[in-house]
Amino acid sequence: MNTDLKQFNYFSGLKNRTNLNTIDMIKNVLIFATTITIVACTQQVHDASQPIERPQDTHSYAIPTESKTQHLSLDLTADFTRQVLSGTAKYSLVNSPDAKQIVLDTRDLMIHSVTVDGADVGYTLGKSNTHLGQALTIPIKPESKAITINYETAPTAAALQWLNPQQTADKKHPFLFTQGQAILTRTWIPCQDSPGIRITYDAQITCPKDLLPVMSASNPTEKNATGTYTFEMKQPIPPYLLALAIGDLNYGDIGKQTGVYAEPSVLDKALFEFGDMQAMLEAAEGLYGPYLWERYDVIVLPPSFPFGGMENPRLTFATPTILAGDKSLTALIAHELAHSWSGNLVTNATWNDFWLNEGFTVYFERRIMETLYGEEYANMLAMLGFQDLQHEVHALGKSHKDTHLHLDLDGRDPDDGMTDIAYEKGAYFLTLLEEKVGREAFDKFLKDYFETHKFQTLTTDEFKVYLNQHLLDPYAIEVNIDEWIHGAGIPDNCPSITSDKFTKVDAIVSNVSKGDLPTQATTNDWTTHEWLHFIRALGDDVDSKALDALNGLYGFADSGNSEIAAAWFEKSIQLGHYDYFRPQLEAFLYTVGRRKFLTPLYSALKEAGDIKTAKAIYAKSKANYHSVSTQTLDALLGE
Ligand code: BES
Ligand code: ZN
Repeated sequence: MNTDLKQFNYFSGLKNRTNLNTIDMIKNVLIFATTITIVACTQQVHDASQPIERPQDTHSYAIPTESKTQHLSLDLTADFTRQVLSGTAKYSLVNSPDAKQIVLDTRDLMIHSVTVDGADVGYTLGKSNTHLGQALTIPIKPESKAITINYETAPTAAALQWLNPQQTADKKHPFLFTQGQAILTRTWIPCQDSPGIRITYDAQITCPKDLLPVMSASNPTEKNATGTYTFEMKQPIPPYLLALAIGDLNYGDIGKQTGVYAEPSVLDKALFEFGDMQAMLEAAEGLYGPYLWERYDVIVLPPSFPFGGMENPRLTFATPTILAGDKSLTALIAHELAHSWSGNLVTNATWNDFWLNEGFTVYFERRIMETLYGEEYANMLAMLGFQDLQHEVHALGKSHKDTHLHLDLDGRDPDDGMTDIAYEKGAYFLTLLEEKVGREAFDKFLKDYFETHKFQTLTTDEFKVYLNQHLLDPYAIEVNIDEWIHGAGIPDNCPSITSDKFTKVDAIVSNVSKGDLPTQATTNDWTTHEWLHFIRALGDDVDSKALDALNGLYGFADSGNSEIAAAWFEKSIQLGHYDYFRPQLEAFLYTVGRRKFLTPLYSALKEAGDIKTAKAIYAKSKANYHSVSTQTLDALLGE
């Protein structure tokens, strides 16, 4: 098996570094290291005779060049009364010949004890930083084999959301889920919380007997009598992909490798909605090579889940807001599935390289959707994506550094830089490359890229070297890759994707401000994406009468399709006409915790000069949101 241990950089200066308390110290470390090949059976990305320049991950205190965790055995008990996970994390280690310590990331953990190869040791917890937490430094010897940390989580642990029964679909049992990306795993497991470090893991989880735990690992499909379950993840993964959910869950099969976990009342709806999941997996394999994680399941979480989806390996975590009843929002499943290659197999080395995860995944997602549902479908997705990109560039400012693909997140919470830029500018960059060399050559390049770097991490610079060597040079293609990667805004040669269906919508939407509304006969066969395009394209001159009439005809404010409802709410707030659906808006914001919906809606209220309404709804709803969402909204609403 390949692991990223093949390149183990021993850094001679490390032994002089005793104070790890400030991130600035870490930043100052220049990693010019000699590459020592430990596992020689994998291909080299770099010429081994050249020094490797791997930027230090400034969002982790870990010093993997001194000692690296290799395998985690987790043993945790979930106490829903105290809202605490407690138990032990035991790691096997790979040490450099002069290792004196291993450094782990922790945040808000209560450490009870630490042992090295079974013997109690003194350890230090460094100064606390809001986002990074505290370095846990454990003294070891080069020959030390394993460390065990006995600890418990804080009820406020940022990765964890403990839900009471009222906050679930069936309202009978409590629920817990974790969200690790970007740097939250350290709030529930002490770990070397850098995407550039991979571990395998096994786990034993004990929970109340009426609940079922599932992880980003091999999973049980039904409850047992003991309340204790075991899990195994044999493929090495970065710590942000460690994940756990516990709830009253049922399981149902979709295909031979695919299935769904959901609360009992949600399962049938989810099984219908995700009915094409096995076909998606097979389409993905057809494009870019074998799926290397054995099973692919999805768990539908309660609506407070702060994301649309999270690509936890073997078990995507998903929001119930994609259960539209007509499979129209399942591009999100294709997206999370695509991460099984881009992100989970080939991982961004630091959060500055986030676009390597998300840009590739959006490109891949659209190729899966194209394979299953045709080019027109993929083009509509790409056009909506382009609108998101334009909107993001406008919101950030077109010369803002956060519009670069390669980010500079030093000293910031990585979450703050994770915008649509990585997703859409990244995907359009790959589309440009595809246009330059042709689809066949580009697909071969991507397939080889995944195969060559599987179970490894990559920096943007390493990707550039690979891109030049394996695509641009062989095909003698000149592309302004530095402008795309290190420049601001949308480059002039950004591909233009069009959709016939959207062109038809454009013709109709332009008449709305003249009072000419689309008839039901015209819109009869419109898909969700045409409706989204229509709502987004409504001009500033559309008055409240037209909005009322449109809502009367099409019932957007009461739509069971969350994307349509959210787009309608946002547009109407922007146009200053939303009093009439205030109850629906409040109900939506009260139940849904998905940040992608919350931020635009609260922002729109604020922009419309109605921060009072925004704050009033937020005050009522905040207890239902995950910390990921409240962190963004607190900043937005000045809480
Ligand atoms: N990995 C992301 C979610 C994420 C990003 C979590 C950054 C934490 C930090 C996931 O794959 C994702 O992109 N989800 C999107 C859906 C997708 C279809 C664009 C989402 O949640 O909306
Ligand atoms: Zn993603």
